[in-house]
Amino acid sequence: MKLQWNLPLSSDGIETSLGDGTVVRIRPITVDDGPALDAAFKRMSTRSRYLRFFTIREELGESLLSAFTDIDHQLHRAWVVIDPSAASDIEGEEEGRGIAVARLIGAADTPGIAEASLAVTDDYQQRGAGRLLLELLVSTAAIAGVEKLRFETLWENRGMRRLLGTLEATQNKALSDSSVLTYDLPIRASADETVGALYEILRWIAASEEGEVAESNDD
Ligand SMILES: CC(C)(COP(=O)(O)OP(=O)(O)OC[C@H]1O[C@@H](n2cnc3c(N)ncnc32)[C@H](O)[C@@H]1OP(=O)(O)O)[C@@H](O)C(=O)NCCC(=O)NCCS
Repeated sequence: MKLQWNLPLSSDGIETSLGDGTVVRIRPITVDDGPALDAAFKRMSTRSRYLRFFTIREELGESLLSAFTDIDHQLHRAWVVIDPSAASDIEGEEEGRGIAVARLIGAADTPGIAEASLAVTDDYQQRGAGRLLLELLVSTAAIAGVEKLRFETLWENRGMRRLLGTLEATQNKALSDSSVLTYDLPIRASADETVGALYEILRWIAASEEGEVAESNDD
C-alpha cells in the first residue's frame, strides 16, 4: 500500500479533510482524553458499539478508559480525530468534537504483529474517516517496525470487511470462526513511502520518545 500523504503539520497534530471536505485534526491520544472518549462512545449507536466491541456495552468504564488513554505510545499507539467545527462534548473544551479513534497494540512476546482497531462515530461514518485512519495505522506500523496488522471484525460488519478488502488484508482462517473473522494486513510500505507531514510527525514523535528515554537514563 503506497501512501500519498502531504499534509500541513502543526505540533499538536495534522489537519486534513475527509472525503466530503470536512476539515479534521488528527493527533495522538493523551491521558486527558478520557472524558471526550467516553462522550464519543456514548454518542455511538448501540449497533456501532456492538460492531466495535462484539458485545452490548453501555459505557466504556473507568478501567477501559484508562487503558485506552494512558498508553505508552510505543507498543500501544492511538490517534484521535477531531472536528474543530463541531462543538465539543466537554463543556469549556474548544478543540472540537472527537469523531473517531484508531489504535494499534503490539505485544512484547509477538514482535512484528500489532492488533489494530478503529471506530468512527455514526454521524461521520461513510465519509472517508475509516480509510484515512487505516492509512494512518499502516503508516504508523511501517515506522514502528510492525510487519503485520491484525484486525478482528464481526462477520456481519460489512463496512469494515469492505474497507479491509480494498487493501491487501487476507483472512487468517486459523484464527477466524463463523462470527469473528481475523484479517492480517502485511505492512510492505517502507518508511520512505510515507511521505509528507504524516511521516514528519511520526518521526517527531519517535524522536521525542527517544529523547524521553535518553533523559530518563540520565537520572
Ligand atoms: C467500519 C468503520 C470503521 C468504517 O469507517 P467509515 O469512516 O464509515 O469508512 P469510510 O467512509 O472510510 O469507507 C470506506 C469504504 O467502506 C465502505 N463502507 C463503509 N461503511 C459501510 C457499510 N456500512 N456498508 C457497506 N460499505 C461500507 C465505504 O463505502 C467505502 O468504500 P469505497 O471506498 O469503495 O467507497 C465505521 O463504520 C465504524 O466505526 N463502525 C463501527 C465500529 C466498527 O465497526 N469498528 C471496526 C471494528 S473492527
